[in-house]
Amino acid sequence: MSEILQSQTGAVLTLTIDRPGKKNAITNAMYGTLVEALERARDDKTIRCVLVTGAGDTFTAGNDLMDFAVIAAGGLARDQMQGFRFLDRLAEFEKPLIAAVPGLAVGIGTTLLLHCDLVFLSETAVLSVPFVDLALVPEAGSSLLLQQRIGYVRAFSMFALGERVDAKTALSWGLANKTVPPDMLQGEAMAAAQALAAKPPGALASSKRLMRDTGALKTVIAREADIFEARLKSPEAREAFTAFAQRRAPDFSKF
Ligand code: COA
Repeated sequence: MSEILQSQTGAVLTLTIDRPGKKNAITNAMYGTLVEALERARDDKTIRCVLVTGAGDTFTAGNDLMDFAVIAAGGLARDQMQGFRFLDRLAEFEKPLIAAVPGLAVGIGTTLLLHCDLVFLSETAVLSVPFVDLALVPEAGSSLLLQQRIGYVRAFSMFALGERVDAKTALSWGLANKTVPPDMLQGEAMAAAQALAAKPPGALASSKRLMRDTGALKTVIAREADIFEARLKSPEAREAFTAFAQRRAPDFSKF
């Protein structure tokens, strides 16, 4: 069974990350499904808006760390890494993209929001991008986009100290449009998605194009990806992934 649920309501395609037993952590196969879904949404005229959300009370715990461990061990070549393809599709996506974040949003769960045109957070949502704790670097263009959005020192604190940001703070920093009681989240986000789906699609796509420099963004994403991939295979990262699997704190003192 797919762990990315797809449903269409009118002209709105909803993608639900649905792997509750693993806090909706995203595997390579799930990224592959997300790539296909975004390509379908891009090409299908009956889809005018995409809404991304998570099942249950979590958005996503980010990339599956066991998959990262496989890459660290040399088990996956770059062209098999669907996550990188997903980031490109995200940067190129010209139809409106909305996020409804029901809870925890780690790693890509937060950096994905920087590519969304509207972001709704449950009042219980918590955003974090603890890349340095995993011996990794920012991805999805977030090395540029996060500091543009919230300023350098806040972004650095989130990346390097792993600072967790609650919904109220995220709203005040400009990371979201609105915080919503948990039981109203999906309704609010869907209402906004339906409103966008009724707008002239050409004007929406052109507005997005004017507001986002896709070429520059893809250049940043590619530069990050090169370093990210190298970091994944580093001894520091191996220690971080092993520590997660063993449910202990990582020990970086020997590096
Ligand atoms: N990759 C793979 N499995 C993950 C995961 C991830 N990113 N996040 C959580 N899980 C798994 C846990 O291993 C656990 O599996 P198990 O029950 O088979 O042992 C299950 O999901 C529940 O997680 P648990 O840690 O018990 O829940 P929690 O509520 O105590 O903590 C998190 C939730 C998300 C804070 C914690 O799991 C975490 O820090 N995960 C890693 C987040 C991360 O670093 N993501 C990568 C960013 S690039």
